[in-house]
Amino acid sequence: MTTQRKILVTSALPYANGAIHLGHMVEHIQTDIWVRFQKMRGHVCHYVCADDTHGTPIMLAAQKQGIEPEALIERVKTEHLADFTGFNIGYDNYYSTNSPENKAFSEQIYLALRANGKIASRTIEQLYDPEKQMFLPDRFVKGECPKCGAKDQYGDNCESCGATYGPTDLKNPYSAVSGARPVLKTSEHYFFRLGECADFLKQWTSGSSTLADGTRQPHLQAESLNKMNEWIEGGLQDWDISRDAPYFGFEIPDAPGKYFYVWLDAPIGYMASFKNLCDRIGADFGEFLDAGSTTEMYHFIGKDILYFHALFWPAMLENSGFRTPTGVFAHGFLTVDGQKMSKSRGTFITARSYLDCGLNPEWMRYYIAAKLNARIEDIDLSLEDFVARVNSDLVGKFINIASRAAGFISKRFGGRLAARIDDASLLDSLAQAAPSLAQAFEAREFSRVLRDVMGLADAVNAFVDANKPWELAREEGQDARLQQVCTVLINAFRLLTIYLKPVLPRLAADVEAFLQIPALSWDDADSLLLDHEIRPYQHLMTRVEPKQIDALIEANKQSIAPAAPAFEALAETITIDDFAKIDLRIGTVLDCQFIEGSDKLLNFTVDLGFETRTIFSGIRKAYAEPRDLIGRKVVVVANLAPRKMRFGVSSGMIVCASGEDDNSGLFLLDADEGAMAGMRIG
Ligand code: 2FM
Ligand code: ZN
Repeated sequence: MTTQRKILVTSALPYANGAIHLGHMVEHIQTDIWVRFQKMRGHVCHYVCADDTHGTPIMLAAQKQGIEPEALIERVKTEHLADFTGFNIGYDNYYSTNSPENKAFSEQIYLALRANGKIASRTIEQLYDPEKQMFLPDRFVKGECPKCGAKDQYGDNCESCGATYGPTDLKNPYSAVSGARPVLKTSEHYFFRLGECADFLKQWTSGSSTLADGTRQPHLQAESLNKMNEWIEGGLQDWDISRDAPYFGFEIPDAPGKYFYVWLDAPIGYMASFKNLCDRIGADFGEFLDAGSTTEMYHFIGKDILYFHALFWPAMLENSGFRTPTGVFAHGFLTVDGQKMSKSRGTFITARSYLDCGLNPEWMRYYIAAKLNARIEDIDLSLEDFVARVNSDLVGKFINIASRAAGFISKRFGGRLAARIDDASLLDSLAQAAPSLAQAFEAREFSRVLRDVMGLADAVNAFVDANKPWELAREEGQDARLQQVCTVLINAFRLLTIYLKPVLPRLAADVEAFLQIPALSWDDADSLLLDHEIRPYQHLMTRVEPKQIDALIEANKQSIAPAAPAFEALAETITIDDFAKIDLRIGTVLDCQFIEGSDKLLNFTVDLGFETRTIFSGIRKAYAEPRDLIGRKVVVVANLAPRKMRFGVSSGMIVCASGEDDNSGLFLLDADEGAMAGMRIG
């Protein structure tokens, strides 16, 4: 028996104001597979999560629905948990950040940070909505970019030219809540002195922990470490952890009317959920969270929230008397058919719609696992590939093994497997794969696990073809041999089920029932099932029908009410002469590439007919694959003065329109077929 480890695992806490979609599912499936694997290995592993309930957007969403935030978050939590459970995510506890435990820990941590001299207070000036009587978070202030003049930009950066700035730099700002013109107002804020934690963070981010079994676990993946180093080198700013009323959250001790910023109490929600679990099951909270703890604590997160988990969170824990994480595991984003998920295309797929369309959650778990590795790469759900892979691998290669052998065992041998196996070479080779598969699971290399398991399934299918049980069944005097072959096959199926169980828990439970065996653990790969009665075979899994995918896309298109356009005041009236000053031309995209170091801009080479231009355009968000844009006709403001940017000079602007919501980015306008490159528009 290997040394028993004690592990606490979390997935990022979903916000309590939106539906769970397949993007969330990638992370929770990844975490769940890893946790199930650890449990199968006999380790103590607690998996906790919660809804992230505080902050301005949730407060405003409740107001809009005419209900109290508590009622909103209660309803959403029930929905979230039902969605996750529908995908067989097996949390040990799913809680809420709006809980007494979280309030107590947030206060405790804040007071400890304050006692350690890590909290500063100073007065800052911020934009305030005089109509709504509230301070406006950056993303609730919009206006014109101070650099390029693009309209309807957020208060922190311009999606059109990539400039970064503060909300007070916007020209003609307006409140995205009421449309009112914001005014400047001062208020006292509390800051976590992150800058003072630079030495600790330098050491922690590049460090590792020794596990109970003696192996070393780096705290961060290599890609995360590089990013954190850049940030640390760039200088860490103190972090504003307070917000003014009205705010849905916890009031800060000794500071009436001031609330903890949602991102302060969100990760503390991991601890709160765990504490709630400990109280319920009698586990030892301190064993996992006390400073100096030798147990393990891991956070699975998306790459967009690394900053919070790899800098703020360890620094908060370190300076308030708790242990720091053993590892932060970040993953990339999910694209669907190579593109960012989109409501209008029906690829913003909610977990609920998937389940309601009758699609088997195990199919998605399998497909996602087949795409996941330990790196921070975006993963693509290609719907065609999804159907093909599930049908050919999961059903065609794996499930078929049982269906080809079980009938003979039931009909010819009363359901009984042979008492011994004459030639166990196939089963030996399957069992020998266990250590390397375990190593791949441990390292979160799930795509490797599934590739290797399907390789084993291929070997089993080759054995079926070589031994042809259906022919043995027809021949006289071949009963013993038929029982041998089918016993080998049922055992091979059992071994593969062990290896797939973390990925396919529901299917594995059905296999356990079919084989009439107790829950399989990893060590069961060392033994065989002999002289044992199994149940008659019942179909374990159907194939995906392409029409189910059509229904899924349709369901997600239909479920979207037309979005109300964001409030935007009409620009000042101009004369025809003003308009004539803008030289709009049709251009053909000759090349389009990512720009290293920019997550907003794409680098276009555009043929204007009379010359070729380099134009940077802030539309990366909506286009996952820039090469797909080559050949597109675009509309270009050709007489815009060239602008020098961090990445070079941009000569012109490509005309774009905002998408259906604030998150979807900017989209190119198309020119009809006859429009010719270089032609003037007007
Ligand atoms: O980005 C998000 O969706 C956040 N709600 C994640 C919070 S994770 C943790 F810190 F609570
Ligand atoms: Zn701009």
